[in-house]
Amino acid sequence: MKILVTGGAGYIGSHTVELLVQDGYEVVVFDNLSTGHRRAVHPDAQFVAGDLRDAARVDKLFLEHAFDGIFHFASYTLVGESMEKPWLYLRDNVVAASYLLEAAVRHDVGRFVLSSTANLFENPATIPIAETERVIPGSPYGESKAAIERQLEWMDRLYGLKHCALRYFNAAGAHPNGHIGEDHAVETHLIPIALQVALGQRQQVTIYGDDYDTPDGTCMRDYIHVVDLASAHIAVFNALADGKSRKYNLGNGQGSSVKQVIDTAREVTGRPVASVVGPRRQGDPARLMADSARIKAELGWTQAYPGLRAIIETAWKWHQSHPNGYAG
Ligand code: UFG
Repeated sequence: MKILVTGGAGYIGSHTVELLVQDGYEVVVFDNLSTGHRRAVHPDAQFVAGDLRDAARVDKLFLEHAFDGIFHFASYTLVGESMEKPWLYLRDNVVAASYLLEAAVRHDVGRFVLSSTANLFENPATIPIAETERVIPGSPYGESKAAIERQLEWMDRLYGLKHCALRYFNAAGAHPNGHIGEDHAVETHLIPIALQVALGQRQQVTIYGDDYDTPDGTCMRDYIHVVDLASAHIAVFNALADGKSRKYNLGNGQGSSVKQVIDTAREVTGRPVASVVGPRRQGDPARLMADSARIKAELGWTQAYPGLRAIIETAWKWHQSHPNGYAG
């Protein structure tokens, strides 16, 4: 089985490549390295540098390889950035996916797994959020993923492309082998920022608002281990062989507030993590928690790292051994 992993040099993509290679799949990573890292790509995967917004380059890739499936991670992924630079999302994310989908159907690839997001749900009517929840995106980022999910539905209806959209909640943690982890040029995510404070690389974490309608006033998120997300991708790819497209929400089902995350970072590291309260960040919903019952029931997917503590422990191992990320 030959799998194309777009964005395979990125955080979630590289963890999925690691598992695919372990499971014996042949893997081709296509990545423009705008945010990913060449060193994050497993040495047994083939790396191809390129940009999905270049339609001719994408077509050439499909002429060179016969793919059995596509895992599409390559994308701009920041809620906050998307509120400031909407066209990177509303245009670039959508255009990149469109060229990829066009090539996929032209070259008869049968299965497609989309990296989608919990940001599809700005003000969910029911928490935890199930797949039946109405899609009302919370930012241009969420809007871009909603558009791609719709394109997938059309590609199935018109050309029979079987697909699964995995709506992740907050990916966190690192592979326990200690070789790969989270490394963003400009870090905006809560857990790595808290761990950088523990390492003495930053002075403090700014809590973006403590006046939300939550028990301690800070935003609540559902943190899910990146290896559990990776294993879900492989499970759904295999399941798509039954010819049924689907969508799954992926999380722990437990909400952790910003303050709880910072406290857990203090416990795990045994170090001080200073924090201050600042203003709200645009585009942040108060609470996002997943109901992942459907993927558990249908595919028997289980989590190896169900708790926040275990997630932060693996992230801490990575940050301690790679204080400058992949730069060494
Ligand atoms: N936060 C802070 N201070 C920081 C950083 C974050 O208080 O310095 C807060 C945020 O306001 C938010 C929570 O911590 O309430 C988590 O923020 P992250 O930036 O770590 O993650 P997001 O929830 O914004 O977004 C992540 C992914 C998105 C995905 C979303 C789905 O980056 O791609 O989870 O829930 F859409």
